[in-house]
Amino acid sequence: MKPQNNTITVLDIGSAKTVALICEIGDSGLRYRGHASIESRGSRKGIITELDKAVQSVHRAVTEAEKVAECTVGNAVVSIGGPHIKGITSRGGISLGSRPREVSREDIRNCVEKARSVTLPPDREILHLLPQEFILDDQPGVRDPAGMMGCKLEVNLHLVTASSSAMQNVITVANRAGVHVDNTVYEALVAADSTLRADEKELGVCLADIGAGSTDLMLYYEGMAIHSGVVPVGGDHFTNDVAVGLRTPLVEAEKIKKAFGHTVSSKVPESNEIEVPAVGDRPSRLMPQRFLAEILEPRAVELCELMRDHLQHAGVLDLCGAGMVLAGGGSRLTGLGEVCEQVLKRPIRMASPVPLSRLPVQLAEPEFATLVGLAMYAHRTTVARISQDNGLGSRLRAIWAKLGA
Ligand SMILES: Nc1ncnc2c1ncn2[C@@H]1O[C@H](COP(=O)(O)OP(=O)(O)OP(=O)(O)O)[C@@H](O)[C@H]1O
Ligand SMILES: [Mg+2]
Repeated sequence: MKPQNNTITVLDIGSAKTVALICEIGDSGLRYRGHASIESRGSRKGIITELDKAVQSVHRAVTEAEKVAECTVGNAVVSIGGPHIKGITSRGGISLGSRPREVSREDIRNCVEKARSVTLPPDREILHLLPQEFILDDQPGVRDPAGMMGCKLEVNLHLVTASSSAMQNVITVANRAGVHVDNTVYEALVAADSTLRADEKELGVCLADIGAGSTDLMLYYEGMAIHSGVVPVGGDHFTNDVAVGLRTPLVEAEKIKKAFGHTVSSKVPESNEIEVPAVGDRPSRLMPQRFLAEILEPRAVELCELMRDHLQHAGVLDLCGAGMVLAGGGSRLTGLGEVCEQVLKRPIRMASPVPLSRLPVQLAEPEFATLVGLAMYAHRTTVARISQDNGLGSRLRAIWAKLGA
């Protein structure tokens, strides 16, 4: 096996699963080569909790993906997520002079630099710098002002910030597993990339990536990323409730939740019964399936209310005209979409990542939206870099390419 320079590798190190995906860059786009998904160890809610175990998970995922793809991996683009992610919006600008003149690429760079130079708390750094719009002589909505005439140029930026140490620990894990990290990317941003449609982004839509430990949010309006945030509830909170409520081990609670869980108790026939293994040597018991739903329902309502309150507090709830798109493994819980629709009073749909060429069907599920989005992001940035190296593009074009514009 040898390294190939026409392949890209991406790594999604989640609380529940660690996945490595290798794709080939062909003339007609990305083509799947191989992947491996294994249970995560040593990472929780976007934080590395046990370095050695996390290194082993990444090493296993990469080695198994290499076998399938029949090539070796040197570099990867890696996802970052969890409650340490915080989005802020910043505005900055420059004067072009007292008489109108043409806006140059240099002006745009200076303007963006001005807007990004906000004072961040210690241990916090900018993960993404997402230009929302330029404002030329108080005229908003300009996407690329290069070559236009004006006296004053301003920009609205959405900055996705992360804890530096949390991010560095993820990089260390990948490095110790033998992988150099090319880039780190916010999970929900790439999950949005692989699942949201252009018309939804235009009308206003929120992507909710319901993972194991938390729910990452990314909101688009008029085609631009305008808000990012995290709600500290994920699929594992439901599993814990089931374990406590049914007095069964966590592994059994996870299986029961996936097989029989429902978040709308009135939809579960009263006569249905499920077998629940007991803790220790006690025999398993038969319990009403509705009782399981009664455990899950309040947690579903809590999650949806937290999302609603988070968006309302940020002043962006009313901008979700196209509603919400649910991604992540947690979104597969039966009935969750319905609860979400009732609480948020918006249309809800399940995410399904765009199919890459030869992508196995099991990766076309909502919990792989981040993974597929990472591959699309890595592809776009590689293409943008090549075009820049060839002197064809500009830095701004590279920024828009990263945004998928
Ligand atoms: N069919 C299903 N029904 C209900 N819940 C499910 C189902 N499949 C997966 N889940 C839940 O989804 C969660 C895992 O989701 P996902 O794989 O997106 O997490 P992750 O990316 O590893 O975690 P994170 O993004 O929080 O770090 C677990 O809590 C799991 O119980
Ligand atoms: Mg995830």
